[in-house]
Amino acid sequence: MAEIGEFLRDLWYMPALASSLAPGQMRREMLLGEPIVLGRLKDGALFALRDICPHRGVPLSAGRILPEGSVECPYHGWRFMPGGQCSKIPSLTGSEDLKAESIKVRAYPVREQDGLIWVYMAARPGSEPRNEPPRPGVLHPMRWTETQRFACGIDHAVIGLMDPAHAAYVHNHWWWKRKARLKEKHYAPLANGFAMTAHRPSKPAYRILGDVTTEITFELPSTRFETLRSRLLGKDVKVVGLTVCTPRDSENTDVIQVFWWPAWLNFIYPFFWALGRTFIADDRKIVELQKEGLKFSPNLMLIQDSDQPAIWYHRVKKAWAESVENGTDFVNPVQERILRWRS
Ligand code: FES
Ligand SMILES: [Fe+2]
Repeated sequence: MAEIGEFLRDLWYMPALASSLAPGQMRREMLLGEPIVLGRLKDGALFALRDICPHRGVPLSAGRILPEGSVECPYHGWRFMPGGQCSKIPSLTGSEDLKAESIKVRAYPVREQDGLIWVYMAARPGSEPRNEPPRPGVLHPMRWTETQRFACGIDHAVIGLMDPAHAAYVHNHWWWKRKARLKEKHYAPLANGFAMTAHRPSKPAYRILGDVTTEITFELPSTRFETLRSRLLGKDVKVVGLTVCTPRDSENTDVIQVFWWPAWLNFIYPFFWALGRTFIADDRKIVELQKEGLKFSPNLMLIQDSDQPAIWYHRVKKAWAESVENGTDFVNPVQERILRWRS
C-alpha cells in the first residue's frame, strides 16, 4: 500500500492573492514546507521557482528581477529564467565546458485567475499538471477577503472548517446563536471530493439575500466553495465564497477566504466586514487550544454522522495519495448519502 506523505501532491495550492504582487515584485512563499520564490515579471507574467540558488543556496527572492525577464541571485549574479533554466553565469569566461543552460532550478506551474494565484505541487518535478485549478464561476471581481494563520497542520484546519457540530460552541455569539436542531443534509461525491447539495439554509441571516439556496463543495487539497443562489429585486443573485487551507509547513496553515458578488449587491459588504474576520478568528482560536491537547499525541475519535465529512476527507486523501503513488486514476471512495446530526 502507498505511504501517505505529509502533504498531497499533484494538486494546486493557493499561496496568495493576485493583487499582492505588483510587476517587478517577488517574495518567498513557504508551501508544503518548501521555499518558493513567487514573483511577477515587469510584463505582468507570474513565475514560481524553488527559492534556493543551485549554486550555493542563497534565496533567489533576495535578488532582483531584471528587465530582460530573469531573476538574478544576489550572491554571484547567476540568472534564472521563469522556466527555471540558468541563462547566465557572470564568472564564466566563455572558454569553459560548463554551459549555464545546463543548470536548472525547479520551476512550479503557476496560474493567475479570478484574482487568485495557484501553484502546482507536482509529485515528480517537471511533470505536467493533472488538471487546472478550481474556479468560482463568476464574472465580477472579488469583494471581500481575509487571511489568518492557523497554528496547525492542514488536516486540523480542514476538518475544523467542515465540521458541522462545532458552530454552536465555537461561533457562540449572541447575534448568531440559534437553538440546536436536527439537521438532515444530502451529500454527493464530486470529482475530487464531495458536496453538501443545494438546500435552504436554516440560519435567518441568509434571508438578507431573499429565498436562498446554498451548496457547499469540498475538493482536494483544501478547497471549499459555498455558492448561494437567490432572486432579489427581480434579478438572479449568485454569491460565491471560497475558503482554502494553504499549508505553509507541518505546523502552520493559512486559511484564506474570498467572496465574490455583483457590485449592485454591495450592501452586504458591512455584514462581511463586521462578521467575517470574527468567524475565522473563532476557528483559529479553537485550533490553538486544540494544540495544547495534541502535544501529548492523544488518540482522537471521529464519530458518525457529524464527523462523516472528516472521515470522507481522510478517505479521499488516502485514495488520492495512492493514485499519485501508483500512477493510477483517482477513484473517489465517497458514496451519496444523507447525514443527520444535531447542531
Ligand atoms: S549562490 Fe546564487 S549565484 Fe552563487
Ligand atoms: Fe467554524
